[in-house]
Amino acid sequence: MLKRIVLGLIVVVVVGIVGFGVFAWRPAIGKIAPPAPAAFAPEMVARGEVLAGAGYCSTCHTTKGGQPFAGGYPMKTGFGTIYSTNITPDAKTGIGTWSEAAFRRAMHQGVARNGAHLFPAFPYDHFTKLTDADVSALYAYMMTRTAVEAPAKRNSVPFPLNIRALQAGWKLLFFHPGRFEPDKAKSAEWNRGAYLAQGVSHCGACHTPRNALGAEKRDKAYAGALIDNWIAPPLTAANPSPAPWDRAELVAYLRTGISRYHGVAAGPMAPVVHDGLIKLPDADIQALAVYLADVDGAAARASSLAPALRKAAAADRLNVGPQTLPAARLYTTACASCHYNGVGQLNPLRPDLALNSAVNLDDPTNLIRVVLYGVSAKDGAPGVVMPSFNRFSDADVAELASYLRATRTDKPAWPNLDKKVAAVRAQGR
Ligand code: HEC
Ligand code: HEC
Ligand code: HEC
Repeated sequence: MLKRIVLGLIVVVVVGIVGFGVFAWRPAIGKIAPPAPAAFAPEMVARGEVLAGAGYCSTCHTTKGGQPFAGGYPMKTGFGTIYSTNITPDAKTGIGTWSEAAFRRAMHQGVARNGAHLFPAFPYDHFTKLTDADVSALYAYMMTRTAVEAPAKRNSVPFPLNIRALQAGWKLLFFHPGRFEPDKAKSAEWNRGAYLAQGVSHCGACHTPRNALGAEKRDKAYAGALIDNWIAPPLTAANPSPAPWDRAELVAYLRTGISRYHGVAAGPMAPVVHDGLIKLPDADIQALAVYLADVDGAAARASSLAPALRKAAAADRLNVGPQTLPAARLYTTACASCHYNGVGQLNPLRPDLALNSAVNLDDPTNLIRVVLYGVSAKDGAPGVVMPSFNRFSDADVAELASYLRATRTDKPAWPNLDKKVAAVRAQGR
């Protein structure tokens, strides 16, 4: 009897494994001779260049100082480091022998030419929304780049998570393949913005929190998340900035990285704006803003702008006259020389700290990062620098943060600031 049960169990397990194997298996797609660049119409290549910008392909597929698109850029995940691959048309180490069908399958289904499942560190869960025509344009652009010989780096994902077939299980649970479906109740402009944001520009990849298995929580779209040691703030009505992110603010920020009320793109958002979205025409930036101003319910919050500006002006008055509190003295000597523009005077190149998300977020990480490491000339406003204050002690930074939080916002105090500053300092720039 026992023997029969054991035998039965073994059969079930074997059938299960074989069944999963069949389910997970994808055929290889035959190699082709690398197509000649002249085979692609210049208009297609130009369109692909815009999309490659909008999808930040080069940000992830290029190492610091490395050849464009040659891969090797490390992405730290909770499951180990995954390296991006070489997507130049090199026949040996890149995607030179990939047909358009193989490229399309990678973009739409996250499967490599040889049939291996790709990790979702490659945002195919967003690229699946791209139209066939846009994938063709991206293919034309990639296949006309300079071929670079650069072999793939070895990922440090531990066994058994490194078994690529297991990704089929992840996909079954969390991946929703399929092209973008327009919302007929919304305008064409809104739908264009939604198509870009949800698809090629994958805003949710950073701004949506993920579950324990690294998948975006679909019911928490754009609710804010931790990414590369920064907080990507919520892009919903839960955004903590006292001034709503309306269409005009979004257009300014996504076009230039600077907004009148909200400050500058300083961390991982900087390359999104300056290396990526810069390729998009103004009409697409407008469309993104129309979509996101709807996502964050800016219209319903329009009336909060005037009180927010009054409150910021009241905070400005604290900069005037002698200071008795040690933290206030620290602020007036170290910060106010740049950040005080006169009561109620806004200067987008000297962000108003009462309105800035860094001071208003539930988590002080972004404020601490900006103080410890400054904002380089490349990030933020091009050519404009905020100095780094990494010679301040942890206690000084904590006291400054706590002072700004208390005097510039109506939000609760941040707990354990000393420890937080030490932790952010330990992470390094
Ligand atoms: C957030 C980072 C990121 C972005 C943005 C990104 N990729 Fe990737 N991509 C990766 C990673 C990581 C891999 C390797 C995944 C793996 O090994 O399973 C990859 C793999 C690929 C592959 C499969 C190549 C192979 O050799 O298997 C293709 C094709 C690709 N990316 C194209 C693109 C294109 C086109 C864009 C822009 C529209 C893009 N990627 C944007 C991270 C990214
Ligand atoms: C690589 C990750 C990443 C991607 C992709 C990304 N963001 Fe961000 N975003 C961030 C981070 C981190 C911040 C905050 C800190 C910073 O970098 O300035 C931010 C800040 C912002 C802000 C300012 C929010 C505030 O309250 O200050 C807006 C608006 C924004 N992003 C919109 C977008 C949109 C729209 C997209 C897609 C077109 C997008 N982001 C794509 C990481 C990302
Ligand atoms: C020498 C001038 C200068 C000083 C001193 C200075 N800042 Fe800044 N700060 C800037 C500039 C300029 C920016 C905008 C960065 C950019 O555009 O590159 C900025 C940006 C910021 C931001 C907003 C970042 C964002 O994402 O929008 C915060 C927060 C900030 N500073 C806090 C401080 C604090 C706190 C101090 C004092 C410890 C300080 N700054 C001292 C010039 C300065």
